[in-house]
Parts: sequence; C-alpha cells; structure tokens
Amino acid sequence: MSKNQSYSNYNEKGYPELHLGYADIILLGQWDGLSNALYSLIKGENLWVQYNLYKDPGVIEKYTLLTGTVELKYEGNRRIFQPGETIDASQYEKIICFHAISDADILIHTTVEIFEPSFFETQVLQEEADAIEKLDGYTYMHCNRIKNYSIEVWTELDMPKHLLQTLRWGAYFHDIGKLSVPLEILNKPGSLTSEEWANMKAHTIEGAKIMRNHKVDMLRKSAFIVEQHHEQYDGKGYPYGLKGDEISLEACIVSVVDAFDAMTTDRVYKKALPITDAIQELVAGRGTQFNPKVVDAFLSVLKKRQNGWK
Ligand SMILES: [Fe+2]
Repeated sequence: MSKNQSYSNYNEKGYPELHLGYADIILLGQWDGLSNALYSLIKGENLWVQYNLYKDPGVIEKYTLLTGTVELKYEGNRRIFQPGETIDASQYEKIICFHAISDADILIHTTVEIFEPSFFETQVLQEEADAIEKLDGYTYMHCNRIKNYSIEVWTELDMPKHLLQTLRWGAYFHDIGKLSVPLEILNKPGSLTSEEWANMKAHTIEGAKIMRNHKVDMLRKSAFIVEQHHEQYDGKGYPYGLKGDEISLEACIVSVVDAFDAMTTDRVYKKALPITDAIQELVAGRGTQFNPKVVDAFLSVLKKRQNGWK
C-alpha cells in the first residue's frame, strides 16, 4: 500500500473489507507480492474482468469459484463456471463477465500492485456512491445498472478495451452533479420553474467539475461523459447543444441506457413503463434524441438478454 493510502473498514477478524451493495470484497492476505481477496457477489450481479488494463505483461490475475452458481460470459458465449475451477485472466484477450445466478464467493489472486490501487479507489468511490444514493430515488443499483449496460453496449460496438475504464466510471457517476442540486428540486413532483430547471440542468457542468478535480485519477478522465450525458443527437440537449458526432460515443451510450432505466423504474413522480413501451420510446428517439448506432447496439444487447433488464 502506498504511504498516503489506508483502509478505513475492517471486519471483526481484522481483514480490510468493502461493502459495495452488489458485492463485498475482503482482503484475506498478501504474500510473495500477491494479494488474495474474497469477492462475494450478490445474486443477479456481475463481476467484469479485463486483464492487463495496466499494460504490464507480468501481472497475475486469477479467479476461483468457491461457492455458488456463476455463469461465465465471454465473447457472446456462456457456460457455467464450475466450483473449484480457476480462470487465469491473462488467457483472455477481451472482457470476461462472471454473472451470479445465486449468491457466490469468488477468490481473487492477483499482483499486489494491481489489487492495492483498485481496492483503495473502490473505497473512495464507495463513499461517493453512498452520497449519491441519498438523492432523487437513485440507488446504488441504478448507478450499477447504467455502468453494466454501458459496458455491454461498448462491447457490442466492438470499441477499444483500453477506453473501457473511462466509460465505466463516467457511466457510474453520470449524475454525481446532482449532489449540488437542492433535494426539493430533485424530488419535486410537479413541473419545475425555469429557475429550478436551470439548476437541474447544471448538474452536468457541476458533475464534470467534481470529476475533473477528483482525487482518483481515473475519474478525472471520465469528466467529459458526465458533462455530455444530456446532450442530444439533434443538438437539442444540454448543456452545450452539441450535435451528432460532436457528442462522445461514451456519453451517447450513457444517454440511451439512462433514459431506458429511468423509463423502466418507479420514481417518486411516476410509475415504471413496461419494457416494450420503453423500447418503443428509444426507437422513436433514434436519430433525434439518441445516436442511432447506439440505440441499435443497445436493442441488440437487450435482445440477447431476451429483453431482460435489471
Ligand atoms: Fe443526468
């Protein structure tokens, strides 16, 4: 661990641990330059793994299923990850997804230099996420869904994997700027006054400011996504009225996935739409509100999941 990092949470056995809402991570021990950690994944959630983001060929990164039923998804193929089986991530060029069919425990065995920063950063991110959860009926699971589906759309579009981390955190923290919008505006059931609406719209710019000044380096790189996630393909979005390819693909993805999640989730001021209606809305906005390429990719992701969502 570097000198300015410290773990703030320890369990009763004295092991550092993180509670993420969709998973818990406990650091079991470190020896011979390797970290061993237990990743407890909640039923229905995913653990995304991508080897060598740090571009070091000597990195060891292995995953062993201890308990539970987990489906392994790789390049459109699915199979059951057998208990006791070990996956060596270095053998996989693209993103691996571990999908928990039941609650599951996965043992992570990886190089300390890789584990340390990500464990520390996850802890910092967790604090941010806790703050966001208190807002607007948005939950940790909402942020997590947006992140997961954005990753799936990025993969569907076959975009470069080294840019995935940027998308991942931009998607996860797209609404971080809502921390600066008063709660009575966020939760107001009726329509907003023009002043309140201006305040609401500013969550894009405020969010980008938070990200650009963030202590976690990888979050700073994602600021542009937060800034642009309410821009529209036809130029009628905010805050800048960017149009077409002026909007980053990353922001276009978050925009589609976020709109879909908002439509299919119960909120303070409205009931959820059926998934088929939400799909129709996306199709109606294809080429006006939404980037058509992204709508197509998202619909194909949904189709592969047989319109499954959440
Ligand atoms: Fe937003």
